[in-house]
Amino acid sequence: MTKDRRNRAWYGKHDKDGFIHRSWMKNQGFPDHVFDGRPVIGICNTWSELTPCNSGLRELAEGVKRGVWEAGGFPVEFPVMSLGETQMKPTAMLFRNLLSMDVEESIRAYGMDGVVLLGGCDKTTPGQLMGAASVDLPTIVVSSGPMLNGKWQGQDIGSGTDVWKFSEAVRAGEMTLKDFMAAESGMSRSKGVCMTMGTASTMASLVEAMGMSLPTNAALPAVDARRMALAHMTGRRIVGMVEEDLVLSKVLTRESFENAILANAAVGGSTNAVIHLLALAGRVGVPLVLDDFEVGSDIPLLVNCMPSGKYLMEDFCYAGGMPVVLRELGAKLRPAKTVLGGDISAYAEGAECWNRDVIRSFADPVKPAAGIRVLRGNLAPKGAIVKPSAATPALLEHEGPAHVFESIEEMKANIDRDDLPVTADTILVLKGCGPKGYPGMPEVGNMPIPAALVKQGVRDMVRISDARMSGTAFGTVILHVSPETQAGGPLAQVKTGDRIRISASRGELTHLVEEDELKRRQAAWSPAPPHYTRGYAKLYTDSVMQAHEGADLDFLVGKDTRPVTRESH
Ligand code: FES
Ligand code: MG
Repeated sequence: MTKDRRNRAWYGKHDKDGFIHRSWMKNQGFPDHVFDGRPVIGICNTWSELTPCNSGLRELAEGVKRGVWEAGGFPVEFPVMSLGETQMKPTAMLFRNLLSMDVEESIRAYGMDGVVLLGGCDKTTPGQLMGAASVDLPTIVVSSGPMLNGKWQGQDIGSGTDVWKFSEAVRAGEMTLKDFMAAESGMSRSKGVCMTMGTASTMASLVEAMGMSLPTNAALPAVDARRMALAHMTGRRIVGMVEEDLVLSKVLTRESFENAILANAAVGGSTNAVIHLLALAGRVGVPLVLDDFEVGSDIPLLVNCMPSGKYLMEDFCYAGGMPVVLRELGAKLRPAKTVLGGDISAYAEGAECWNRDVIRSFADPVKPAAGIRVLRGNLAPKGAIVKPSAATPALLEHEGPAHVFESIEEMKANIDRDDLPVTADTILVLKGCGPKGYPGMPEVGNMPIPAALVKQGVRDMVRISDARMSGTAFGTVILHVSPETQAGGPLAQVKTGDRIRISASRGELTHLVEEDELKRRQAAWSPAPPHYTRGYAKLYTDSVMQAHEGADLDFLVGKDTRPVTRESH
């Protein structure tokens, strides 16, 4: 046992403080010898009945513990705030940074040497990684895993993606409300995260591509016995990582972020990955900017999963999962260390594809050039993004008149009006949905198609906002416009009838109004009063950075790895 292991400052002391640290732990029945200096492994758990996607994590924690004990470590499970994407108002994103603070301070304050992060639902994975990165102990991820494929009326249905489709079908009069309500139970029929390539499975896929989890972690269904075995093996591995001092920053390097960007394109991953990777890079100290996402722009879509394709995560797992994607990326992957200590290329070794329609090759992709495109121009000086794989190709080069909604309430109150003056060429603009504006930057950027147009058969149109959209959503939706309206970004100056031009191929987003006129509008503009004047939401609103910087709180950027020397008694 190494003498300088972090836990010795808690459990290795022969004084009043050591007595206190050990004695109270012993009330759980731990014998003397577990305090002998062996690696103490924190199991950071976001289990909650209010985060149904993470409801399988208590069992997985038991699997991790088996592995930790087996490898000679001492596992201790602790809860942190849990963020249930589908349950929290106004948006779970408001609390991602709060979770990260909970994770960071819990890891730092307690006497652990390594950490296993148990998360899954959208914000839990990035929030946990961000917090862990700011302490920088040996760290490894076990994800919830996706739900089994949704099944309804003999068909596979996908989390989120089919909710958007069904709800449009109801509005078009093509689906009854009775059928709509009945589909709920078939959509979510096991524990686990959304089984589309939404944000949760995207982040799990990128975690695997960054070498932060064991191979196959992303796609194994939540209820597959092999996920429990993976948890066990992860418990064994984290003990080794502590012995090797393989801290998180040795795995999360610039190269691993680039691999995540390549993988995000290949899997047709969520636009939310952009914001989470930027924030995470800020914690680790890796320089990463929005334009770096262009390294993935010519990578084709290889994984044929909703919302960009047709299959679901269960199919992706049975086809071979992320190891096959990493094998396809092959020489494009940057050399980067993983939690196993070797290079990421080892994750692809021996990977075989069992279904070529689910995971395609570069020679026969689902779609060409699938990576996130960054747009800039006088409407988004700091950038905006669009996901071509989920968009209508013809609309990616488009000019049209704006129809503006000044707030989410105005949009909801008017979108179904029969006399809304819009055509399929109209560009819908939604303001006030950025990090400061909502606050929390919700997933409302994929505004519904106006009812009048739905009835004409229109299923996609250009939509622009400072919001995000769900990773399960689709459409020609321009997101994360930065700076946001509430921060005085130029989106605030758009009026109904103004013309806007987008060109994804040239990376442009242009407000076609004279500069003098825009200056006049800017001078007459003032921000809306803040929604919250106290508590965490005030702290958030006062400190949150813009989307192109990852929407972290400004004082959380970076890390503090100094030992905590002061005792509480
Ligand atoms: Fe939790 Fe999709 S809502 S993973
Ligand atoms: Mg989401």
